[in-house]
Amino acid sequence: PPLEHISNIYDFEYLASQILSKQAWAYYSSGSDDEVTMRENHSAYHRIFFKPKVLVDVANVDTSTEFLGLPVDVPFYVSATALCKLGNPKEGEKDIARGCGSGPKKVVQMISTLASCSLKEIIEAAPSKDQIQWFQLYVNSDRKACDELLAEAEKLGAKAIFVTVDAPSLGNREKDAKVKFSADKSGPEAMERTKERKQKAKEVEEQGASRALSKFIDPSLSWNDVVEMKKKTKLPIVIKGVQRAEDVLKAAELGIDGVVLSNHGGRQLDFSRSPVEVLAEVAPMIKEKNLDKDFQIFVDGGIRRGTDILKALCLGAKGVGLGRPFLYANSTYGKEGVEKLIERLSFELEMDMRLLGVNSVKELGPELLDLTALKSR
Ligand code: FNR
Repeated sequence: PPLEHISNIYDFEYLASQILSKQAWAYYSSGSDDEVTMRENHSAYHRIFFKPKVLVDVANVDTSTEFLGLPVDVPFYVSATALCKLGNPKEGEKDIARGCGSGPKKVVQMISTLASCSLKEIIEAAPSKDQIQWFQLYVNSDRKACDELLAEAEKLGAKAIFVTVDAPSLGNREKDAKVKFSADKSGPEAMERTKERKQKAKEVEEQGASRALSKFIDPSLSWNDVVEMKKKTKLPIVIKGVQRAEDVLKAAELGIDGVVLSNHGGRQLDFSRSPVEVLAEVAPMIKEKNLDKDFQIFVDGGIRRGTDILKALCLGAKGVGLGRPFLYANSTYGKEGVEKLIERLSFELEMDMRLLGVNSVKELGPELLDLTALKSR
């Protein structure tokens, strides 16, 4: 269908389910085990209601904010997803970079270590000098390769490093495991550099994309490694995949620049709580302990509407990430799809801000929410 017929994220998802290869759909859409967390990520937002203000002059609304010290046009970003060439075989992540930088609102793109295209290609594909790209790091047991990736990201102009910590092994995604994966068609490029790549290439073909990628990640990663990493780069370091209040506080106290509350889109430990529920618990603690000055909280998982974004921001998130929606937009319409998704989500966000009675992101706070249903789960 023509792109004008797409109204929202669900339209992209439906279309992707119809046209993607069996392999791509299985890898992109799957969650772990019974997919309870994957569904809960979104349905938790259905238990949060608004208390809108009326008679506020909302002729002008401003969606801009600041991530890790840099100004951004909208409070949402593209979260890192591996293997974009499974769905967009020619352009992969490059079309996401183009879509994020060519519309009126520039959107931050987080680039996966396991991207199909090389980091250099993706950064060079970005059309605007104002657009921000972050690098998501999976720590490999080949620490030399890992340090090289870190240095390369900094040199190429990435603005922050997001270290994923919820994947000491990749989750049990059974739909995906049933489809064979050949590492040669869609990358990932970064795997080529590591020691295990060459000897494992054959094994990889027999076991589904997630199992194959799992080989790349070092399960011995611990807090000390992240603290050490901070000494190796000038870029802010954020840990992605934090799931409990105690770990958020620990990260803040250790001087890490931020966390992403995330359960990897329900692809890791099933029955992990939804990130928005964790956020409701932890954001007040961070404020109370005065740790919020140089520390930012991001959230991802199940964000599909402008209202979801507003709820997370009211609860104290600095920004929110979307994973699958951008994969689906990129796989169905490439760069134009990514632009369209940004336009629709920005449209919803502005309209919802007007209806909520706020002019800017900094006016969002917990007093605008009714959390009764969220808390009585
Ligand atoms: C992911 N995610 C992910 N995260 C990460 O840190 N590195 C990665 O390479 C990937 N790869 C990846 C592939 C696919 C197919 C999916 C669906 C997800 C997790 C991603 O960054 C994000 O946390 C979730 O996708 C957010 O949930 P939603 O928006 O997909 O519901």
